[in-house]
Amino acid sequence: MTILIQRRGVLAAALGMFTSGGVLQGSYAAKGDGIFPADFVWGASTSSYQIEGAVEEDGRGKSIWDAFSRTLGRVKNGDTGDVACDHYHRWHEDVDLLSNGNFTAYRFSTAWSRILPFGTGSIEHRGLDFYDRLVDGLLAKGLRPWLCLYHWDLPQTLQEHGGWLNRDTSAKFADYTRVVASSLGDRVKDWAILNEPNVHALFGYGTGEHAPGLKGLPKMLAAIHHLNLAHGRAVQALRAQHADLRVGTVISLQPVRPCSDSSGDRSAAERFDAMWNGSCLDPLIKGTYPSPIAPDFTSLIADGDLTTTQQPIDYLGVNYYSPMYIMHAPQSLFGAWFGPAPTDLRFTTMGWPVDASGLAEELIRLRDRYGNPELYVTENGACYDDELPATGFVLDNDRIAYLRDHISAIRHALSAGVKLRGYFVWSLLDNFEWAEGYSRRFGVVYVDFKTLKRTPKASYYWLAEFIKNHTFRN
Ligand code: FCB
Repeated sequence: MTILIQRRGVLAAALGMFTSGGVLQGSYAAKGDGIFPADFVWGASTSSYQIEGAVEEDGRGKSIWDAFSRTLGRVKNGDTGDVACDHYHRWHEDVDLLSNGNFTAYRFSTAWSRILPFGTGSIEHRGLDFYDRLVDGLLAKGLRPWLCLYHWDLPQTLQEHGGWLNRDTSAKFADYTRVVASSLGDRVKDWAILNEPNVHALFGYGTGEHAPGLKGLPKMLAAIHHLNLAHGRAVQALRAQHADLRVGTVISLQPVRPCSDSSGDRSAAERFDAMWNGSCLDPLIKGTYPSPIAPDFTSLIADGDLTTTQQPIDYLGVNYYSPMYIMHAPQSLFGAWFGPAPTDLRFTTMGWPVDASGLAEELIRLRDRYGNPELYVTENGACYDDELPATGFVLDNDRIAYLRDHISAIRHALSAGVKLRGYFVWSLLDNFEWAEGYSRRFGVVYVDFKTLKRTPKASYYWLAEFIKNHTFRN
């Protein structure tokens, strides 16, 4: 704590550009500025495979990411999640970082194969105990645990039975949901069913860039539909078990913009929008697939499926990073693919354009086209080539600017009547960024992957200060 305070002092000068006379002072300075309500949730997000490590410990079974990352050429530099941030052993330290950073909630995911090593059947109580300790640790610090049941790490045994190509995986997922809920449902009140099923299906089953590395449109469509079914069945399972849970799910939603004004690019953008933004959202909220892609799903839909997918939820989680620029691409997976973004934009080191207006646009679109549901931004953040110099201070000013602008965008959405209830930064820690391994840093806390030492970055202190000024604590 002392260290934290000292560092805050030293960093104050570096942060001056963001706090004196700028947006922070002008628009956000006072508590209760009339925009962020008293119970607005300020959180940080992570996921199991990206941070836990300890892949062989306490009876954990293998997940598809263990298999994928150990396959030559799949992940940059041959990186794996074997150790990751070693959060499994260092979670105390991470809970302290959350608490000292003034966060009020923590979104994490449970690893299915830690709890049911083979995806189904016998329960590994040591795995459940880990989450039990974590939840108690969070509650003891006054942090709201926000539990996501699935962040892409399917048990490998289920993959051997087809994974999300198999309809039955959705029933297995509901069984797993019951196990987690019966152990943690007394203390965890905020549940997220899936993380970004749209992205998981596209890159895991469509292009093969993510685990399980499968390719082709039919596979991608089947995975989408079965993930949608899994969502519905898990919502039913949670509701049947505990009446007092707040249940939602998380989808990656980003506005799609055509690369040019040509009719080819415009219709490609429409199709891409339906596939990326609509294929999980519409079955969930409207009980239909979006019209431009509905015919693609007909053969997968059995009687009653679209009633199962359309379960009432308490909130929708929106993960937003950047708008997407799409062009007509006849040779691609479904005829529309990423094209060049305008060159006058700034880009993160992922190559993603920086444009906070897309976040406000997306939130307002949900207000107008999806019946103004309760929303949380469950992930938002930026990747830059941070360095930890000898001084020990990571001055990630680009990330601060990104966060500042995106928080400004949610402020705009709130004043436009969007029912936004919270904002979670991605991510608390630098971590295993899927196919990019450890080469991409998204954390507000720097992790040295050799020593596993955590060093809060300037953005962490900036956010801590911002949250302090916008929360009402007794
Ligand atoms: C999201 C994922 C998350 C992380 C960020 C950068 O799509 O949900 O795990 O990889 O992107």
